Amino acid sequence: MASVSLHRLTKTFDAGRPALQDFSLDVRDGEFVVLLGPSGCGKTTALRCIAGLEEPTAGEILIGEREVTHVPPAERDVAMVFQNYALYPHLTVHENIAFALEMRRVPKADCARRVTAMAARLGLAELLDRRPAQLSGGQRQRVALGRAIVRDPAVFLFDEPLSNLDAKLRLELRAELLALHRALGATMIYVTHDQVEAMTMGQRIAILHEGRLRQLGAPGEIYERPADVFVARFVGSPGMNILTGSGTGEGGRVMQCGSLALPVADAAGVFPTQLGLRPEHVGVGAVGEGVGEALVEVVEPLGSETLVHLDAGGQALVARLPGMADVRVGDRVGVRVDTRRLHLFDAAGVRLG
Ligand SMILES: Nc1ncnc2c1ncn2[C@@H]1O[C@H](COP(=O)(O)OP(=O)(O)OP(=O)(O)O)[C@@H](O)[C@H]1O
Ligand SMILES: [Mg+2]
Repeated sequence: MASVSLHRLTKTFDAGRPALQDFSLDVRDGEFVVLLGPSGCGKTTALRCIAGLEEPTAGEILIGEREVTHVPPAERDVAMVFQNYALYPHLTVHENIAFALEMRRVPKADCARRVTAMAARLGLAELLDRRPAQLSGGQRQRVALGRAIVRDPAVFLFDEPLSNLDAKLRLELRAELLALHRALGATMIYVTHDQVEAMTMGQRIAILHEGRLRQLGAPGEIYERPADVFVARFVGSPGMNILTGSGTGEGGRVMQCGSLALPVADAAGVFPTQLGLRPEHVGVGAVGEGVGEALVEVVEPLGSETLVHLDAGGQALVARLPGMADVRVGDRVGVRVDTRRLHLFDAAGVRLG
């Protein structure tokens, strides 16, 4: 096993904006780190640079103590699992899993033993003679995982390996991957654009946007103290409500955001111009209650909770209410806010305090 360090990694494909810009990250030996960000933010590029499939334009990559920036992929002791399985169609499950071992001239008996053990662990024991075309998506993905794990590499790289699977199977394989991580104690870097996956799997999450690292931290830290408005909106389902307004009242300690008057403390001497509020910290009541009035625009009953989309004098916000809430489109409501849970951001969107 090994740590992975990226030092000011930059990758430019053509004259355009770099796919990755000044990206630094230290993944500890045995850690499970998730790279999270929207489509095109540079996640795959980062993984491909670590695997050696892409040469960085600038910066350094270390695996363990060793600098590998320009070392060929086969000499890096890294296994990558892709979104689209990338199995050899003409080989059986057994042969697919055994392939990398045979390439390394592992003795035949040893190879067979390792493949059989891996197949049993991943629930593939009955399928060893089938070819990929005879497998379901979930089974193919297990084969791809088995093929990576059986090699016993120092570092695992996963590029959205579960995104082609249905929701139930995704949950199962997620749990399985975490169990494997615990059992193997391996260093794993896992790419996803799914923030739920990131929150549930990552020991730490690195959030990328337009090729740059926006925040690195434990899931709770990122949820409770987002570094900027981008992270605040991206993490959470739905993301954080961001309201804009201007200071009024005595000493500017009340922010008027549309029809809502929100009491705020003057953070770090800079008056915030954007306010963040998680949907679970917004509630509705009768007109006259709370911090102002709003119109109910959309109601999404989800069973265990109801999402209520509100228009507060031109400011859009979502409230997350428990259970099947008795709210209807077109209702006028009072907006209740847990003002201790307000997040403050400056004009550029950077967190204050
Ligand atoms: N081989 C390439 N040539 C030119 N541009 C590329 C190449 N590979 C990636 N890019 C560009 O680099 C940027 C980052 O791409 P990358 O594949 O790393 O994104 P991603 O975060 O993995 O996105 P997704 O979630 O859609 O997979 C994109 O703007 C993409 O168009
Ligand atoms: Mg990608």
